[in-house]
Amino acid sequence: QYTAAPFVPEGARDLDALRQAAAGCRGCPLHRDATRTVFGTGGADARVMLVGEQPGDQEDRAGRPFVGPAGKLLDRALGEAGIDPGDAYVTNAVKHFKFTRAEPGKRRIHKAPSLREATACGPWLAAELALVEPELIVVLGATAGKALLGSSFRVGEVRGTVLEREIHGRPERLVPTVHPSSVLRADDREGAFEGLVADLKVAARALA
Ligand code: URA
Repeated sequence: QYTAAPFVPEGARDLDALRQAAAGCRGCPLHRDATRTVFGTGGADARVMLVGEQPGDQEDRAGRPFVGPAGKLLDRALGEAGIDPGDAYVTNAVKHFKFTRAEPGKRRIHKAPSLREATACGPWLAAELALVEPELIVVLGATAGKALLGSSFRVGEVRGTVLEREIHGRPERLVPTVHPSSVLRADDREGAFEGLVADLKVAARALA
């Protein structure tokens, strides 16, 4: 049973304390191949928390979430929906980059984290939620959805709606939507982007 729990400092007072502890997390095997832990960024006073899947290649190098192509698209969609990305706390369900290589020394190819890995990383997300206490959580895609809402989560069934659920022992409001990477892969990119923006507008209205 993998879990980050023994690495999470009890009663951490601020995000920096969490971030420092997370840098040494060995709660699951993903720390072995990744460059570093990519912890959430943003202020403890953020009203909205965005939860993605896991850092990608660029995030693993930079040490910050959503700095690559998916992050650029997400920032654009947030802007169109009227949410200032600078006002959000941005994090991932899984905090290490999981990847394979087609051949040794070749490009690192993103691999979806397993539910076990996402569950193992849950105590970090719980600690972030406890400190930030966001008014709203935007759930970006299936991995974040399953991590927060359970394995029966289906993004197509609940996207663009405001859910009220108890998460890690606290009542939370959540708006699920697709992962920004899925927009980059879609045949109809413009349509997929508009769909993401429409869901984020639901989040913006819930914050108003
Ligand atoms: N995709 C994610 O889910 N998170 C990131 O940080 C980057 C890409």
